[in-house]
Amino acid sequence: KKKIAIMTSGGDSPGMNGVVRACVRMAIHLGCDAYCVYEGYEGLVRGGSLIRKMQWYDVRGWLSEGGTLIGTARCMAFFERDGRLAAARNLIAEGIDALIICGGDGSLTGADRFRAEWPSLIQELEDKKVYTAAQLEPYRHLNIVGLVGSIDNDLSGTDATIGCYSALSRICNAVDLIEATASSHSRAFVIEVMGRHCGWLALMAGVATGADFIFIPEKPREDNWREEMCGIVEHHRKLGKRKTIVIIAEGALDREGNKISPDMVKDLLADKKGLGLDTRITTLGHVQRGGTAVAYDRMLATLQGVEAVKAVLEATPETPTCVITINENKIVRKNLMEAVKETKMVAKAIESQDFDRAMGLRDTEFSE
Ligand code: F6P
Repeated sequence: KKKIAIMTSGGDSPGMNGVVRACVRMAIHLGCDAYCVYEGYEGLVRGGSLIRKMQWYDVRGWLSEGGTLIGTARCMAFFERDGRLAAARNLIAEGIDALIICGGDGSLTGADRFRAEWPSLIQELEDKKVYTAAQLEPYRHLNIVGLVGSIDNDLSGTDATIGCYSALSRICNAVDLIEATASSHSRAFVIEVMGRHCGWLALMAGVATGADFIFIPEKPREDNWREEMCGIVEHHRKLGKRKTIVIIAEGALDREGNKISPDMVKDLLADKKGLGLDTRITTLGHVQRGGTAVAYDRMLATLQGVEAVKAVLEATPETPTCVITINENKIVRKNLMEAVKETKMVAKAIESQDFDRAMGLRDTEFSE
């Protein structure tokens, strides 16, 4: 009987529980044993009670739960070979040789490395006489499949990461709430949203709420952004708008690569010599990440979880590690490391201030 383990890693995102539920149930449906690794890579390294066999009813009601019920943790030990050796030993102790990981690009890259290193880890376990060659025989190869769980929607090659639409929805609700008070006092609000180096949340929130102005890392404003923003806000005010909403991605930069902070924007809007608006800053923070998943993320988590189990069962030593994506409403298997490579290219382009390239790479991704 095939034994498949599921784990969540990196920052939690709404929909991760839906992934675990779908994987556990699909695995059982296909006659396999399902396991959960609790606390992300930490659970792999420590093993024991952190690797638990799951039954169909263990994941009952998980679709509507926020966060990740099997936990996630930053694990330094997994960066060391000894930690990965312990992880291999623990998986084999449970008879597991297929792993599904839901996390961001960093967690998935770690998974790919673990898979590549697996044969040498097995050899070391044999050399150290932890297991005999005969015991290790069924475990010569480790199959891994990745699912992208992140609110940032920052992985190339997929239209949406699991959790991004929940965070976007949370941001829109928060902006709606802020707008009521902004309008009452005729105030301006500078709202900082998450996304790390990716501007997707800020961009889409700007579109969905009709914000006056936005800042994203991929497309810094021209050097005259101060005049541009104040001009637009002034124009809107002249048209009778009683509220001003500026959305700023946490990774927003100017053309020189310097961070544009909410304080800088606030000072400008509030400047008595200019607009002189009564201005407040709201940092939405982790409310964007918490809470239950919206319908789209539940659907994505379920369909991708089902596909991940199929993929991990069909993988061979020759097939490259795959990641489950969604493209034009179709669930697709893609080469994980190619998606990670493309993602890194965007980050590099931003770092080297090649913004046209960064935007171009994101554009292909948005329209792919
Ligand atoms: O990657 C998800 C994310 O929420 C980012 O948007 C944000 O920059 C980061 O994680 C926050 O990390 P932490 O929860 O460790 O503060």
